[in-house]
Amino acid sequence: MAITRPKGTNDIMPEEMKRWHYMENIMRTIGQTYGYSEIRTPMFEHTELFQRGVGETSDIVEKEMYTFQDKGNRSITLRPEGTASVVRAFVENRDYAEAQPTKYYYQGPMFRYSRPQAGRYRQFNQFGVEAFGSKDPAIDAEVIAMCMEFFEKLGLQRMELHINSVGCKVCRPVHKQALKDYLAPSYEELCDTCKNRYEANPLRIFDCKSETCQEIVKDAPTITSCLCEECTDHLNELKILLDASGIEYILNENLVRGLDYYTKTAFEVMVSDIGAQSSIGGGGRYDSLVEEVGGPDMSGIGFAVGLERTLLSMKAQEVSVLDKEPINVFIAVISDQEKVPAYQLMQQLRKNGIAAEMDVLGRSLKAQFKYANKRGFSHVVTIGNEEVQNMRYPLKNMKKKEESKVSIEEMILTLKEEA
Ligand code: HAM
Repeated sequence: MAITRPKGTNDIMPEEMKRWHYMENIMRTIGQTYGYSEIRTPMFEHTELFQRGVGETSDIVEKEMYTFQDKGNRSITLRPEGTASVVRAFVENRDYAEAQPTKYYYQGPMFRYSRPQAGRYRQFNQFGVEAFGSKDPAIDAEVIAMCMEFFEKLGLQRMELHINSVGCKVCRPVHKQALKDYLAPSYEELCDTCKNRYEANPLRIFDCKSETCQEIVKDAPTITSCLCEECTDHLNELKILLDASGIEYILNENLVRGLDYYTKTAFEVMVSDIGAQSSIGGGGRYDSLVEEVGGPDMSGIGFAVGLERTLLSMKAQEVSVLDKEPINVFIAVISDQEKVPAYQLMQQLRKNGIAAEMDVLGRSLKAQFKYANKRGFSHVVTIGNEEVQNMRYPLKNMKKKEESKVSIEEMILTLKEEA
């Protein structure tokens, strides 16, 4: 029996790659304009990093991690997300000792063992950013602006930006107590998972899928109603900055993100066109994570976008990737004798930045043309003995069906102009 790919993974085949490159170019441009530099961290880390970073009570750490013992008996985990790794790298490489803020962006595969469905995979790709060293709401606004600009530049529409504040170590315990007091009379009706959450992290009950739990928590006190003065001011300033930059948002007091490290700002971007897995990106501030991972007391904020879900949304919204038709030349030879000059021409074109290929299967001239047509080459040059002698070659534009005899120099000029 043929071997198939593991459940929840995807092959990205060459024809799909155009869209990925398109997204990657936009990422780089946005990173550059906002002053973020690219960082690449390992795809696996010591399990403890995610336990400490993402949080023991999060679904990711409780149920979704790809964790294994390596041959040296270390507990290793395939990264389920990028933030904890980037924070670790920031601390380990002592970038905190440089002039602040430090701003990174990253892209790559993440791994979560969850039940696969459309838009939810076991290996998926994220584009993310993390900014360290500033508590200023202006950096929260900047990070949100980058996230929205990414989707806008891709041509996506109908995104909804939800924002909230999840408080800090001052107001969170106040809310936790208020929530527990409110839930106490209904404790027995909570599902088993939420009974556990009640003590450890009652905020997560807002996230429960059970209808009974949703009903119980419906009118529970929200964190927003318990925010301390500092968190209230921070949220208000963020709202002013978002308004000033024309970014529309919904203040969603029930928004709690599935990762434990957030403080103050939390946000999520949804689209309705892709069904249940509608969150295409999310992020927030994490003012204790750097210290938790062993660094100094320094704040951070970032977001990550799910690239597969972004692509699904683009397809659902029929967003086309506007791309110029590529210029690529197929060099057809009349006989074997022209193989060497054809090879030389191919290499000369390539060295001048022009994509070129020649036959490597010993096809007849007719079959070479058929192949060039099928593969969609933009130009075909045919080389026979006469062309080699006169050093002038028929360059055929396959789309316009026009042909002109040119020298190699003219050929390069023409093709470069068209590219
Ligand atoms: P997250 O909300 O867990 O946040 O993931 C961010 C995005 O990754 C989601 O909005 C979704 O589009 C995509 N995603 C998550 N799980 C899957 C999956 N199983 N299959 C396909 N796509 C998925 C984080 O990961 C945080 N590290 C974001 C962040 C950065 N917060 C601060 N800095």
